[in-house]
Amino acid sequence: MKHFTTIKEISTYLKPGQKQGLEIGFVPTMGALHEGHLTLIRRSKAENDLTICSIFVNPIQFNNKEDLEKYPRNLVRDAKILEELGCDVLFSPESGEIYPDGHTEPLDLEFGMLDKVMEGKFRPGHFRGVAIVVKKLFDIVYPSRAYFGKKDFQQLAIIRYLVQTLKIPVQIIACETVREDDGLAMSSRNMRLTIAERQIAPIIYQVLCKAKEKVGKLPVWELKEWAIKKIQTNPEMRVEYFEIGDRESLLPLENWSHKNRAVAFTAVFLGDVRLIDNIELFS
Ligand code: PAF
Repeated sequence: MKHFTTIKEISTYLKPGQKQGLEIGFVPTMGALHEGHLTLIRRSKAENDLTICSIFVNPIQFNNKEDLEKYPRNLVRDAKILEELGCDVLFSPESGEIYPDGHTEPLDLEFGMLDKVMEGKFRPGHFRGVAIVVKKLFDIVYPSRAYFGKKDFQQLAIIRYLVQTLKIPVQIIACETVREDDGLAMSSRNMRLTIAERQIAPIIYQVLCKAKEKVGKLPVWELKEWAIKKIQTNPEMRVEYFEIGDRESLLPLENWSHKNRAVAFTAVFLGDVRLIDNIELFS
């Protein structure tokens, strides 16, 4: 596996392949790799000539300094995992490489309501930070396909919108959320849970699954209240939001008249770790 840390190095390496028309699969990550990431890498390897993984803890998508500081980092371990998996290229730039002199070019793009609801409401600026870095990475890698997990459903909607609006020639591939055996969605943040917190964390997905069974049987508002109460019967858990939204616009649904487009989304604090998850209610 080739490992580059500068734009110049990776661009020089990729140029001949790009000219030949090689299909490049790209998996952007912030490291602390888990099975969810590895599934994306495997899929990219199966569908492309060359697979590139980036590891960059993007400072401008953290609206909370402590969250940025506590984000798990272990490049040596991650590089070893990627090497064993047969990833072709790892790109792990320092912050100054992506934002020279700390300078962030503004992104002349409005996301409408996509970055105002749910994660956008509670993490202002987060999606603009994601969009800026993803665009920068696409401009370096020029991938044919880029792979993202559905666990970050709203991020996926933002990236699809970015690509469509700016006409970036890349296919966005959405991959199913990978879960632990007990249902907990895999996330780099899970590493920060205490043993006791880890034991109760699967409740989030259990409630999402039960909510799916209740679609159409309770009014939307009552289902949301039920879910919040159910999660918060555990005193260690605090629900930041539990929302039922449209799978494309992400706007909250008031009733079940479009239930075939409904997705339930939640963000829950377990101690000081914030976990998000979602379930498609229409499948
Ligand atoms: O999902 C992530 O890990 C990040 O938001 C991404 C897409 C790598 C951008 O920093």
